[in-house]
Amino acid sequence: MQFRFEPGTSPALLLLHGTGGDENDLIPLGQRIRPGAALLSPRGEVNENGQLRFFRRLAPGVFDEADLVRRTHELADFVEDQCERHHMRKIVAVGYSNGANIAASMLLLRPGVLAGAVLLRAMVPLEIPHPPDLNGIPVLILAARHDEMMSADQPQRLAALLLGAGANVTLDWQDAGHGLGATDVTKARDWLSTNFAT
Ligand code: MLT
Repeated sequence: MQFRFEPGTSPALLLLHGTGGDENDLIPLGQRIRPGAALLSPRGEVNENGQLRFFRRLAPGVFDEADLVRRTHELADFVEDQCERHHMRKIVAVGYSNGANIAASMLLLRPGVLAGAVLLRAMVPLEIPHPPDLNGIPVLILAARHDEMMSADQPQRLAALLLGAGANVTLDWQDAGHGLGATDVTKARDWLSTNFAT
């Protein structure tokens, strides 16, 4: 797996880009929302007509669930390995769009790997019959009222799913579209300093 790693303070941020991005995309965002933090930024390995993603989809918003499950475990193994290698005790995912969807999948399928998550424009990644115990871990969902990539009920459904699994979920709505803006930066930064003081 190709990735960028920038050493820094704890908790580290796991940066997961959106469709068409790469490992460089979210580095500036990570630096702004948590100055000085260690940054781990992998590159999605699925190539969809030249656009990189973290898992396959059958159509926009329709995911290849078997592929999602397999790649979620691969990503979680990679993250665990990097955390051990760089002595990072805590890592918080910061995912955008497709990256947020695999971060949500990781919370559900591999609880314990992430200490928290900032999910920017995320959807319900998959339905699971037995949700894990997320044991109060903090999750921020930054949703947009005019998100053209998903139906309006997705953020609320995702929040309910994670809440049902015991996560400490904050669902925040903005008057925005799928793209990120200055408000996302401010909200993610403030939430990180509140929930991860050291
Ligand atoms: C996805 O495929 O994960 C979502 O549709 C978001 C996107 O990547 O466009």
